[in-house]
Amino acid sequence: MSPSVNLNIPEYVKHEKIKAWVAEIAALTQPDRVVWADGSQEEYDRLCAEMVASGTFIKLNPEKRKNCFLARSDPSDVARVEDRTYICSEKEEDAGPTNNWMAPQEMRKTLNGLFEGSMRGRTMYVVPFSMGPLGSPIAQIGIEITDSAYVVVNMRIMTRMGRAVFDVLGRDGRFVPCVHTVGAPLAPGQQDVSWPCNPDVKYIVHYPETREIWSYGSGYGGNALLGKKCFALRIASTMAREEGWLAEHMLILGVESPEGEKTYIAGAFPSACGKTNLAMLIPPKAFDGWKVTMVGDDIAWIKLGEDGRLHAINPEAGCFGVAPNTSELTNYNGIAMLKENTIFTNVALTDDGDVWWEGMTKETPAHLIDWTGKDWTPEIARETGRKAAHPNARFTVPASQCPSIDPRWEDPKGVPISAFLFGGRRASTIPLIYQSFNWNYGVYMAATIGSETTAAAFGAQGVVRRDPFAMLPFCGYHIGDYFDHWLRMSKNVRHTPKFFCVNWFRLDEKGKFMWPGFGENMRVLHWIVNRVNDRVGAKETALGWMPRYEDIVWTDSDIDKATFEALTEVNVDAWRAEMESHKESFDKLGEKMPKHLALKRELLELRVNSGQPAR
Ligand code: OXD
Ligand code: MN
Repeated sequence: MSPSVNLNIPEYVKHEKIKAWVAEIAALTQPDRVVWADGSQEEYDRLCAEMVASGTFIKLNPEKRKNCFLARSDPSDVARVEDRTYICSEKEEDAGPTNNWMAPQEMRKTLNGLFEGSMRGRTMYVVPFSMGPLGSPIAQIGIEITDSAYVVVNMRIMTRMGRAVFDVLGRDGRFVPCVHTVGAPLAPGQQDVSWPCNPDVKYIVHYPETREIWSYGSGYGGNALLGKKCFALRIASTMAREEGWLAEHMLILGVESPEGEKTYIAGAFPSACGKTNLAMLIPPKAFDGWKVTMVGDDIAWIKLGEDGRLHAINPEAGCFGVAPNTSELTNYNGIAMLKENTIFTNVALTDDGDVWWEGMTKETPAHLIDWTGKDWTPEIARETGRKAAHPNARFTVPASQCPSIDPRWEDPKGVPISAFLFGGRRASTIPLIYQSFNWNYGVYMAATIGSETTAAAFGAQGVVRRDPFAMLPFCGYHIGDYFDHWLRMSKNVRHTPKFFCVNWFRLDEKGKFMWPGFGENMRVLHWIVNRVNDRVGAKETALGWMPRYEDIVWTDSDIDKATFEALTEVNVDAWRAEMESHKESFDKLGEKMPKHLALKRELLELRVNSGQPAR
């Protein structure tokens, strides 16, 4: 322990506030040494080599995966911990009923106790990063202090990280301070473990008023890579509300016609609905000459441009995707991008030094080392039910390695958004596709999306978990105020994006998916693109505008008219129950629930009950 540790401040750091803050955190956490990450390739290679030597990383066979590593986490530290995630606004009502809350003074007391000496025996890294292209008017800067080298190398992939950030910051630029510790100090001479963390105590804390993030006890994903969910969604959503923009849990993709016309779409789906697959979609043969390109697969920051249109950037520089069930069939581009420069976490290791996960290949390897480091065979799996890869196993990979990356993905001005897509995993009730009549009803649509739980994961099967705008775990303030912000945002937009609701997951009476999904989703994207460019018809229904069978391109598809009717059916009884459930979820939000959305529900009720499509 060394309260007077050398801060090693590089001469290029001119920002007094940052220097003082780093000194303060070093005095609190008492690391053995301080290292300022410069973001260089040499630094990345050195840290990876150090982690190979310490057992945190396994270097994969370079003939299979060049410059790739595998990390295995502690079995207690495998996912985001929503129940340990807090929004500590001054007033509880500002965090709202969908967030955990604690008074800031109380939380600071708790965290000060936990952080005191928490980095003893470890290196404290100071990691400057930009969310969004450096210098973009939509980008924001953060500095993460962490005692995890794993976090440093992942942040280099996921953000624009390194010393160039200080050029943008200058002497007094705005930054979001992010403090992270794995919460596992080392006593003198104590041997470290390969994945240090605190198995018992975790806190993921946001102070929206002072725009700070403090994370304790976990080294995994969104708990530790603080640029992602903590900054780019929870803190950024509060900034966006104050400053009149949007920070959203949305993919961004471009659809290019054979004539070169480009249409950008942003889409919000709850976790586990195939956002990464959709962002990287390859159109089927019937769409010869059409291209789908990816701008981002998880987060969008959206601002009004001078042209009166909403422009979106992907604030991230990499993808932190779920590995299981990613295959050449489900996501060809997703597999292609993982050939090099990738960090895998909690996947299985093959005997020839490659990686594997459930759903990657048709054939299962005869022997693997599973994500816990144990021998694994198909027989063992049958007997014990043990998975080779953890279901939340991840890859961290530069977005630039995606073969379908959009040429404008780093455009500092962002790309103009023509459509918003909202969807969830619903076995019934929600049609394959419908279009909102207008912005405010679109906000209603987005505010009521949900996904069905599966028996394995969440208890009763088929229970709908409402996940408004797919932001339930990510909105940094009262969700009622968030709806209100969305309603207000239409005001100055001159070229309004259209809102669409989709459901790829409808089941038939035998429990089989009616829609093939994946590349076939292009048929729906194509209709959307035609709609926003006023090129195709639709029928008016109680829910919104829907394609008629003949409005969709069906070349090479075996979806017949009857199946299409079933996929787009609006069942009145199911919708009465659905709207009752919307009401229940709105009622939980109390006073802050915008009256306008209640009105939209009443109108929808009238339309559904009367069977009239009229608005
Ligand atoms: C994610 C999530 O990890 O949404 O992106 O859970
Ligand atoms: Mn996500």
